[in-house]
Amino acid sequence: MELLIVDDYEALGRAGADWMAAALAAKPDATIVVATGDTPMGVYRELAARRARGLLETTHLRVFQLDAYLGLAPDDRRSLYGWMYRSFIEPLGIPEVNVVRLPGDASDPGAVCAAYDSAVRCAGGFDLSILGLGPNGHLGFNEPPSPPDAPTRIVDLTPESIASNARYWGGTDQVPRRALTCGMDLLLAARRTLLVVSGAHKRDILYRVVRGPVTPDIPASYLQTAPHVTVLADRAAWGD
Ligand code: PGA
Repeated sequence: MELLIVDDYEALGRAGADWMAAALAAKPDATIVVATGDTPMGVYRELAARRARGLLETTHLRVFQLDAYLGLAPDDRRSLYGWMYRSFIEPLGIPEVNVVRLPGDASDPGAVCAAYDSAVRCAGGFDLSILGLGPNGHLGFNEPPSPPDAPTRIVDLTPESIASNARYWGGTDQVPRRALTCGMDLLLAARRTLLVVSGAHKRDILYRVVRGPVTPDIPASYLQTAPHVTVLADRAAWGD
């Protein structure tokens, strides 16, 4: 696990885009799973700006959705696919044929989870993964406790996740209670992972993820055991 500490949120965006540029130079058609949430948005904006300046070719990426609320249509304002589309897929010019969804509104969510796992395995797993860190140590919606072999599945959100996601949607009553998440097994097998963390409110959980015991009660702590993980944090989240 490599720790990369930068001064502030602006620098986080630049450092994340540098990480991505190096990965794209090695493999332009990399498979990638990408988080929504506030933290990685600065990285995505910087990637889009570099692409607009002709510095980065992103259109060959093959993108996988990380998580989805259960029962929401893609045009629901709370759809995480919609958020991923607006922040990553569209500004980076990735054709929809290169995107694998995790459709939370499918009539048989169990079957779509199994199909998603097969699609990731058929693609050879994830080359790249960009993740945020939940206040309860979740990765995607792998809520505590999540063992490292947990597959893609339906999950009940914890009160902590519901509370922290309320700010995106205008109140806790707006947050769906169940979700689909890409499994721990696939995330921990990604060949390169960027965990992006910002803000003093993440300081305690980040310390436990990086220095604490590896435990299902903090799913992100399993990143200590995964290959080529870069923890990219600002000073507010890590300290000096
Ligand atoms: P945030 O969300 O980036 O908006 O803090 C992270 C998460 O809950 O995974």
